[in-house]
Amino acid sequence: MPVAAAPSEATSHTRAARPETRVLSARAQRIVDHLVARVAAAPIENEPYQNFFQTEAFPADIYAEMRERLPKRDSYLPLNIKRWKNAAGQSTRDRLVLSDGELDRIPLQEDRAFWSDVTDAMMSAELQQAVYATMKEDIALRLKCRPDQVLDQIAWPTAMLVRDFEDYRLRPHPDGPPRVVTMMFYLAKPGDPDDLGTSVYVERPLLSRIVGGRFKEVSRFPFLPNSVATFVVNDTPQRKSWHGRELIEGASIVRDSLIVAWLSQDFPEFGKKHNDY
Ligand SMILES: [Fe+2]
Repeated sequence: MPVAAAPSEATSHTRAARPETRVLSARAQRIVDHLVARVAAAPIENEPYQNFFQTEAFPADIYAEMRERLPKRDSYLPLNIKRWKNAAGQSTRDRLVLSDGELDRIPLQEDRAFWSDVTDAMMSAELQQAVYATMKEDIALRLKCRPDQVLDQIAWPTAMLVRDFEDYRLRPHPDGPPRVVTMMFYLAKPGDPDDLGTSVYVERPLLSRIVGGRFKEVSRFPFLPNSVATFVVNDTPQRKSWHGRELIEGASIVRDSLIVAWLSQDFPEFGKKHNDY
């Protein structure tokens, strides 16, 4: 069994662990309580796959602190320099995998303590249960169980800070196992374009692809400060969670997000091995 971590220990997150083992600090618990209430109040969309978008995800003071304490670029690593780079060879998608021990790359102790609490909140069983409870039907499909069994399934949490730059693009893809749910917190700052969110796609019927292409963008989550977009991962003939990111244009664009994913099995170093976000 994983060992319970002391609160605010920056080095405590060495890999994904079963969420119920965490001991939360008062600050981490406050984040969880607020977020769980916002998740429970979120309007659920059922088509083309279960998803929700919600504002005011974090307490306002915590969100302001997240923006202030976002790590500098040299604390991040390229997520996949072969796949995501611009014409000059620079990474267009950087990562700092909070759940894989990369918190240690943040130099200031107070910043590490803050992000450690955020990580504990993201990896808490309470948050996972709240999210799974909102979209039981698609999660049951993904986990091949009944909806009333969804909350009893083991879920392995992962969390990473992600930063995207001009020329980043992620073509439509469904994600796949071991992912079950992907939750994307948009860490936008005032003035960021609101069209920088993730797109939801459907596949066009074969005959209509000649003109319009294989995929049709049916909606796009707005990239708003302190918001969160969440969807259930499925990659089966009857349900595919097609999503992606259209090309980012604009040399001044810095697209910050915090991505949490729950997995159906333990997958150490998920952030480094999985390049398909
Ligand atoms: Fe993805």
